[in-house]
Amino acid sequence: MNHLITPHGGTLVNLLVNSERASEIRGQSHEWPSIDLGQRQLCDLELLLNGGFSPLEGFMGPADTAAVIAVTRLSDGIFWPLPLTLDIDEATADGLTIGEPVALRDAEGVMLAAMTVEEIFQPDREAEAAALFGTGDKSHNGVSRFLHRTPPFAVAGRLEGLQLPVHYDFRELRLSPLELRRKFARLGWRKVLAYQTHQTMHRAQQAETQNAAREAGASLLIHPVVGLNQPGDVDHYTRVRCYQEILPQYPTFLARLNLLPLAVRGGGPSEAMLHAIVHKNHGCTHFSVEQNGEGSVLEVLGAPGYSDVEAREVISAHAEDLSINMVPSEEMVYADNRKRYIPVSEVAGEDRILSLTGEDVRKRLADDREIPEWFSFPGVVRELRRRQPGRNSQGFTVFFTGLSGSGKSTIANGLRVKLLELGGRGVTLLDGDLVRKNLSSELGFSKEHRDLNIRRIGFVASEITRGGGAAICAPIAPYDSVRHEVREMVQPCGGFILVHVSTPLEVCEQRDRKGMYAKARAGIIKEFTGISDPYEVPEDADVRIDTSKVTPDEAVREVLLYLEREGYISAVEVGG
Ligand code: PPS
Repeated sequence: MNHLITPHGGTLVNLLVNSERASEIRGQSHEWPSIDLGQRQLCDLELLLNGGFSPLEGFMGPADTAAVIAVTRLSDGIFWPLPLTLDIDEATADGLTIGEPVALRDAEGVMLAAMTVEEIFQPDREAEAAALFGTGDKSHNGVSRFLHRTPPFAVAGRLEGLQLPVHYDFRELRLSPLELRRKFARLGWRKVLAYQTHQTMHRAQQAETQNAAREAGASLLIHPVVGLNQPGDVDHYTRVRCYQEILPQYPTFLARLNLLPLAVRGGGPSEAMLHAIVHKNHGCTHFSVEQNGEGSVLEVLGAPGYSDVEAREVISAHAEDLSINMVPSEEMVYADNRKRYIPVSEVAGEDRILSLTGEDVRKRLADDREIPEWFSFPGVVRELRRRQPGRNSQGFTVFFTGLSGSGKSTIANGLRVKLLELGGRGVTLLDGDLVRKNLSSELGFSKEHRDLNIRRIGFVASEITRGGGAAICAPIAPYDSVRHEVREMVQPCGGFILVHVSTPLEVCEQRDRKGMYAKARAGIIKEFTGISDPYEVPEDADVRIDTSKVTPDEAVREVLLYLEREGYISAVEVGG
């Protein structure tokens, strides 16, 4: 493997101990404190254990963290762009003792590594944020999220890996840096261009990568990031099936696929350098990042990531430290008159360029419309359609919110029956009363308890929606923020329709079917919504129904018409 690129810092790290030592550690660990790692930390641990983050031999201690922030070097002088710490909250920090071991576990409790605690410290989070995002401005999305999300303490110490985090999916595509290097050696690949992406690839990206590899005189490793899905990303299962469809489109022997368990931080150009190091450790000599046509790649949670241009600039500025080549990937566009993709720089006046944005594609998939042959490969489109069937066969949640006595349950019941009559989907009604009896019987009516109640409803509804069913929810749900949370929970799984049953308080109170308003007025029932507790009117309701103005039949019909307009049920079905 001598001809392969040298790992960062000179040696490929491997922190996995042999099986004898592993069983010895397991045997001793019963009384040890544990740290349950989050998804991001699991990704970091995997790349530490398998050498993806060479030359790091563990999470950073205070000296390395400070040095990296100050001069982008570890305390031994090796170039390193970002702090990489194991962050813990105060309670966890209190449970640890210097010199004693702690077990690092995954969410299921499987012990992945043992750490002998050497240092517990409080990193300077503001300085860290500035290093990560290139700005200390707290109004910057990434900075504020980082400061808000990151617990105050960190722990460092000698790491002994028992096993890599468990993956049940695409195992044959999850080669470690060492395994990948061996593979390159077997294939005789000296120059390898890593193409890093977290999006689906279509014809443009295929042409772009083939071009980039040809220009670099390198073989191509499609190295998608599958560590931590970002909201809005296509799930990695679908993406990987799509990449597998793309592979045969390259000239024989040109391209391979490997999955990178990397947690993207949403940092600026300094993160590009971390990625460069990771690819280099995996044996790649060249590195290229996706173009998304909007200039910025790897955007995370609304925080700007880095652009192709920025990445190239910063990586060439540190060429000596990084010793990996950043290959600019030139955007390719489809020239209809030439019937092929051409680099954007070659577009001439007479060229008729066709293009579709990501949003166009999402809409076409949602409406079951054609994705043109020039845009993508049939296999890729088939995979995307399997993931996102037309709305007609997608699950959805209709979430009613409104005061007690506003008529939510009546409409919800009518809608349930009507949807059952139409058929085609299982229908589940999560009525306020029903949920309170079965799912939230221990909860009262404080804001905290109401929010928890709504979150539970949201969780169940999202699972029903994911499974293709129709969930109808009808709690009061008086608070805006938790209603938003539910929308965000459900939307990735299918449709979410918020119906505000806006019947005025006076009418609800007059109806007073259960005599509760009278009791609330008399102070017998406390914290009663509308009387002694707030109701925040939703600004984002998709449908508004005032049952003092329409009959229950008409109300049900309004919701059905909305569902029909949005494509969840077909026009024929609504009539009658
Ligand atoms: S929430 O706020 O969404 O968690 O409420 P929800 O689960 O829908 O429960 C509302 C029903 O509980 C009865 N109830 C109260 N409502 C509001 N405030 C207080 N303090 C209260 N205490 C009991 C009330 O009858 C609601 O039923 P509906 O069917 O809406 O009238």
